[in-house]
Amino acid sequence: MGNDAIRGDTAPEDSITIVNNASGDKVTFPILQGSCGPRVIDIRKLYGATDMFTYDPGFTATGSCESKITFIDGEAGILLHRGYPIEELAAHSDFMEVCYLLLYGELPTAGQKDKFVHAITHHTMVHEQLHKFIDGFRRDAHPMAIMCGVVGALSAFYHDSTDISDPYQRMVASYRMIAKMPTIAAWAFKYSLGQPFIYPRNNLNYAENFIHMMFATPAEDYEISPVIARALDRILILHADHEQNASTSTVRLAGSSGANPFACIAAGIASLWGPAHGGANEAVLNMLNEIGSPNRIGEFVEKAKKPDDPFRLMGFGHRVYKNFDPRARLMRESCHEVLNELGVENEPLLELAMELERIALEDEYFVQRRLYPNVDFYSGIIFKAIGIPVSMFTVLFAVARTVGWVAQWNEMVEDPNQKIGRPRQLYTGYEQRAYVPLAERG
Ligand code: CMC
Repeated sequence: MGNDAIRGDTAPEDSITIVNNASGDKVTFPILQGSCGPRVIDIRKLYGATDMFTYDPGFTATGSCESKITFIDGEAGILLHRGYPIEELAAHSDFMEVCYLLLYGELPTAGQKDKFVHAITHHTMVHEQLHKFIDGFRRDAHPMAIMCGVVGALSAFYHDSTDISDPYQRMVASYRMIAKMPTIAAWAFKYSLGQPFIYPRNNLNYAENFIHMMFATPAEDYEISPVIARALDRILILHADHEQNASTSTVRLAGSSGANPFACIAAGIASLWGPAHGGANEAVLNMLNEIGSPNRIGEFVEKAKKPDDPFRLMGFGHRVYKNFDPRARLMRESCHEVLNELGVENEPLLELAMELERIALEDEYFVQRRLYPNVDFYSGIIFKAIGIPVSMFTVLFAVARTVGWVAQWNEMVEDPNQKIGRPRQLYTGYEQRAYVPLAERG
C-alpha cells in the first residue's frame, strides 16, 4: 500500500479525500488496515500536500505508532496481549510468563521460561551505592517521588546497558528494570518506615519476593501468605501493559530522541503518578474514605456531575473503554476472592465501593457518557486488604507496568519508521511585534 498523499480528482480504493471548501483543492490519503481495530488515515504527507497540520489535543483520534504488543477494543471491552485475552492470562498464566510474552511476542516453552525467570531473579539486587542515594530523600517523601528519582538515576549506576543501538544492552537494561523495580519500590517503603532495607531472596518468586522485601524485617522470619502472593501476581498481570496510554506514550516520546532506557522509564513513572492515570488507585481509596458511609454517596455523585466542579468520581471512566474495563471485572472478582480467603467479611470499603458502583451505573449522567468503573476502582481495596499502604498503590502499578514500558520502548527502537516525536501546534499567541524599551512601557 502506497503512503503518498495524492493531489487530484480520482481517489484510489482504501483512501480518503479531503476537499478544501475555499479553494476546491482535493487531497487523497491512503487508509491503512491493522490486523484488528479501526482503520487509520495515513496523514504523514498532510503538511507537505496542504500546508496544514491536524489539531488533536489529547490525541483522541491519533495513532502515534504501529505496534504488535497489545490490542484494546474499547467498545467491546476486549484487551489482548500478543493476541491472548487478558481473562485467559489472568486465569492460567503468571506474571513472569506474561512478561516474556510481552517482551518476545510468544508464550515461552518450559525451558525458555526457566531461563527467563532465572535471569530476572538474578538481577533483583541493586547497586549497593543506591542505599546512600535513597538515604538522601526526606523520610516523608512520597514513594513515587523516590521511584522517579531512583529509576532515573539507574543510568548513572549501569553504564554498561545504556547503548541503545546494541540489542544485547537493550535486553540487559530491560531485564534489569523488570527485576530491580520491586526492590526499589520496597526500599522506598522501608525508608518511609525507618526500617532496614531487606534484600531480595532468590528462592522466592517475583510476587513473593516483593512481599518479602516490603514486610520482612531482619528481626524475625516472615511467612508469606500464598493467597496474597497469588493475588499480587494476578494484579501484576492485570497492569502489565495497556497499549499507548499516557505513561507508555511518554516513554516512547522520551525514547524517540535516543535517550537511555532508564531515563525513559523514569519519565513514564512521572506520567503514571497523575490522578487521571495510575494515581487514580490512591485517589479512589482516599475518595471512599472521604465518602465514609453509603448515605453520602448521592452527595459525591452529584458533585461529580457538576460541570463547574473539578471533582470526578475516581476510578470511573476511560479514554478507550466505553464498556466495562475487562481488568476492572477481573479485579472485582479478585477482590471478593481475596477478602473471602483472608476472612475479611463485610469490608465496609468494599460495600461502599459496590454501592457507589451500583448508583453510578444507574445514573443518567454516567450512563449517557458511558462511564464505567476502571481497573483502579477495585485495585485499592485489594491492596488495602493485603496490607499495602495507600501511598504505595501507584508504586505497585509502576512495578507491574515496567514490562509494558520496556516492551514498547524496545519495539519503538527497533521500528524502521521510528522518528523523533515532535508534534506541532495551533499557535494563538501574539503575531510578531517590535520590542518596547523599559522606559516606554506603561
Ligand atoms: N466523573 C465524572 N465525570 C466524568 C468522569 C468521572 N470520573 N470521567 C469523565 N467524566 C465526564 C467528563 O466530565 C466529560 O463530561 P462532558 O462531556 O459533560 O464534558 C465526559 O465524561 C467525557 O470525559 P473526558 O474527560 O472527555 O474523557 P477523557 O477520555 O479525556 O478522560 C479519564 C478519561 C480516565 C481521564 C477520565 O474519565 C477521568 O478523569 N476519570 C477519573 C480518573 C481515573 O479513574 N483514572 C484512571 C483511568 S484507568 C487506569 C489508568 O489509565 O491508569
